[in-house]
Amino acid sequence: MKRIVLSLFAVCACTLLSAHLYLDPSQPLEQRVEDALAHMTLQEKIAVIHAQSKFSSPGVARLGIPGLWCTDGPHGIRPEVLWDEWNQAGWTNDSCTAFPALTGLAATWNTELARLYGEMLGEEALYRNKSVVLGPGVNIYRTPFNGRNFEYMGEDPLLASEMVIPYIQGLQSKGVAACVKHYALNNQEYNRHGYNVNLSDRALYELYLPAFKAAVIEGGAWSIMGSYNFYKGQHACHNQYLLKDILRDEWHFDGTVISDWGGTHDTDEAVHNGLDLEYGTWTDGMTHNKANAYAAYYMADAYMEGIKSGKYDTKELDEKVRNVLRLILRTSMNPHKGFGNMVSEKHKQAARAIAQESIVLLKNEGRLLPVKEDVKTILVVGENAIRMTTIGGGSSQLKAKYEVSPLEGMSNKAPNKVLYERGYDSKEYAVQDGLKSKQELSESRSAEQLMQDATEAAKKADIVVFIGGLNKAPHQDCEDADRERYNLPYNQDKLIEALAEANKNIVVVIESGNAVAMPWLQKVPAIVQTWYGGSEGGNALADVLFGDVNPSGKLPFTICSRIEDYPSHQYGEEGYPGVDGQVYYKEDIFVGYRYTDLYKQKKKIKAYKLNAPNQPLFAFGHGLSYTTFEYGKAQLDNPKIKQSGNQTIHISIPVTNTGKRAGKEVVQLYISDLKSTLPRPVKELKAFKKIELQAGETKQVEFVITEDMLQYFNADKHQWETEAGDFEAIIASSATDIKARVKFSL
Ligand code: BGC
Repeated sequence: MKRIVLSLFAVCACTLLSAHLYLDPSQPLEQRVEDALAHMTLQEKIAVIHAQSKFSSPGVARLGIPGLWCTDGPHGIRPEVLWDEWNQAGWTNDSCTAFPALTGLAATWNTELARLYGEMLGEEALYRNKSVVLGPGVNIYRTPFNGRNFEYMGEDPLLASEMVIPYIQGLQSKGVAACVKHYALNNQEYNRHGYNVNLSDRALYELYLPAFKAAVIEGGAWSIMGSYNFYKGQHACHNQYLLKDILRDEWHFDGTVISDWGGTHDTDEAVHNGLDLEYGTWTDGMTHNKANAYAAYYMADAYMEGIKSGKYDTKELDEKVRNVLRLILRTSMNPHKGFGNMVSEKHKQAARAIAQESIVLLKNEGRLLPVKEDVKTILVVGENAIRMTTIGGGSSQLKAKYEVSPLEGMSNKAPNKVLYERGYDSKEYAVQDGLKSKQELSESRSAEQLMQDATEAAKKADIVVFIGGLNKAPHQDCEDADRERYNLPYNQDKLIEALAEANKNIVVVIESGNAVAMPWLQKVPAIVQTWYGGSEGGNALADVLFGDVNPSGKLPFTICSRIEDYPSHQYGEEGYPGVDGQVYYKEDIFVGYRYTDLYKQKKKIKAYKLNAPNQPLFAFGHGLSYTTFEYGKAQLDNPKIKQSGNQTIHISIPVTNTGKRAGKEVVQLYISDLKSTLPRPVKELKAFKKIELQAGETKQVEFVITEDMLQYFNADKHQWETEAGDFEAIIASSATDIKARVKFSL
C-alpha cells in the first residue's frame, strides 16, 4: 500500500513538473517555449500576438505567463501614455535620464560608450518595468531631409553596425530587449506609410541591410520592428522578402518581429509573411481612429475566424506564438533581470560622457576654441541655447527629469562672463502629445528687433557663441515630416552673417541631427556640430567649449554645400521624395562619401547619371581636436592575402599626439579595390579604432584585414564575392584626410 501511494506521488510530481517546465529557468529556452505553447488554447495564442493597449500585449494569465511592456526608445524611456492614446497618462514618477540622440552616439565612434548607453538605458527600462525598448534605429542616412536621421546612426553601414552591436548587447545584458528599427528602407518620413522603395539588390545588401544584419547576428537582437514603407509592393511589416527570405532564412533570426505602430494592413500578408506581434493598429491617433479596437486588429478576430473556417493553418500561428514566447521568457520572465534604477548618478555621468564625446569640432581657425581664460564677456545668441530639445521630434521625445541647456551649462562654468541674446524666435515651442516644456519661450520683440539687439550686443562682447540649428519641431528633425529646405530655418543664416560682421570672434554651434547648409562658412572662424544632447547636453557642450574636454567626435555623415550635392537629390522627385508613391534609389551604392570621394575626378558618373561631385564642406569621419596627431608610416606584415584561405593581413601605424594636451583620435581604415569589373566606391570604411593619447605619447594602432572586407555583393549570383587583384589599405583621419596608403593583393 505504502509503495502504491509513493509511486502515485511520484507520477503526480512528474506531471506537475512537466506541466511547469516553461516556468523553470534552468531548462533550455526552446523546451520552455514548446512547453508553454503546448499549454495554450487557440484563444490564448491569438491574444499574445497583438496589443492590448498602446504599448502592451498580454501574456497568459491562467498560466502565469506575463505580457510585454514596450517603450520608446531609443534615447531614454518614454513617459507613460494613456491606455490607448498617445496623450500623457500624467504620472509623476516617469521622468527619465535623456541620453544623446543616436546620431550623437554614432559621432562618438566609441563602441564602449555604445555599450554603456545600452546598459544605462536598460537599467532605466527595468525600473519602469519595461520589457522591450523600441530602438535603436539604424536606417542609412540617404538624404539630409529625412526627419528621423537624428534617431539613426549615419551614412555608413560599418559605422552603424559597429555602434549598434554593443548598444544592443548592453541593453539586453539587463534582460531588456532591443527592438531594432525600422526594418527596412525607412530612409524618409515624407509619405512614410505610402512609398515603395525601388533599389538594386546590391545597394540593399551593401548599404541598407548590413547594420540590421549586424544587429541580429552579432548584436543578438531579441526583436525587430518592421517599418511603415513598402518594398517590392508589400508593406515592410508583412514582407515576404524582408522578413522571411532575408531575416529568417538568411540571418536565422530567432527573435520577434513587431509591427511599427499602425504598420499592419492585411491579415493574409500578416499571417503568411512573418509578422509576429501587431501593435498600434487603429488605436487613437495612428492610422485610423477606432478607440479600443484590439479585437479588430488584423491578427485578432480576423485571424481566429480564418483558422476556424479553415482558411489559415495553425502552423504559422504557432510559429508566431513561439517567437513571442521566446521574447517573454527572455525579458518579462527573466528571473535574473533585477530592478534597475532611474536618473542615478551613474546614468547622469554616462549621459554626460557620451554627449561630450559626440561633439564634433568642425572648424577652429586661429584656435578660437577653447574659450580663453582672459575672455571677459561671452555673448551667447540663439534659441537652442535655452530651448529644451528632449521634447518634440515624435515618438522619441522624453520627459527628462532635468535638461541642462547650453546657456545653463556655459553660465555654470563662467558665471560672470556669459550674456544672452535670443537673436531669433522660432515660434514653434516644444509641445507634443500633451508633453510640454515648462519653459516660457514666448517673445514680444519682432524678428528685426531680435536680430538688431543680438548684433548690437555682439559688438560689445569679446566672443560670440551662436547656438542654433534645428529643433525637433515638425519639419526640423521630427518624425512624420521631412525637412523642406537645406538651409537653417528662422532666418538663422542671415543672423549668423550679421553676427559675424559685428564680431569676428564668433563660434557657430549647430545643434541638429542632420547636415545643414553653411553659406556663412568662410565668414566664421569656428564651427561646432552638436546633437540633441539629452539631460547633460548643455554641460557637455560647455565642457568642450571651455576646454575641460578635448573634442573627439567625428561626423557620421558627409556635410555637402547644397542639397543638390547629395546624390539622392539629383533625380528629381523620382529620387526623392517619390512620384506616385514610388521612390527610386538611382544613386545605388553611391551614398555619402561613396559619392563625394569621386570629387577629385571632376567627371560625371555617367552610368548612374550623377553630376560630378563637389568637394564636401566637411567629410564623413571629420572632426578636429584641441591637440594634433601625427601618423607615421603604415606597415603590412604581408602584402598578399590568399583567396578563401582564411588568411589575414595585419596593418599597423604609429600615431603620436604632437600637441600639448591629451586627446582622442579615431583612426579609420578604408579599403579600396584598385581595379574591379563592377563599379565600386573609391574606398569603403572597414574598421576604426578610437585611441587616447597623452601629450607626446605614441601608440601603435593595428588592424586586421580579412577577405570579407574586400567583398562586394554580386546581385546576379546573390552572393558576396571578392575579385582577385590589387587593393589598397587606406588609413585616414576622415574620408578626405588620408594619412597612409599601402597596397596589397588578393
Ligand atoms: C514610430 C516608432 C515608434 C512607435 C511607438 C511609431 O510612430 O515610427 O518608431 O517606436 O511609433 O511610439
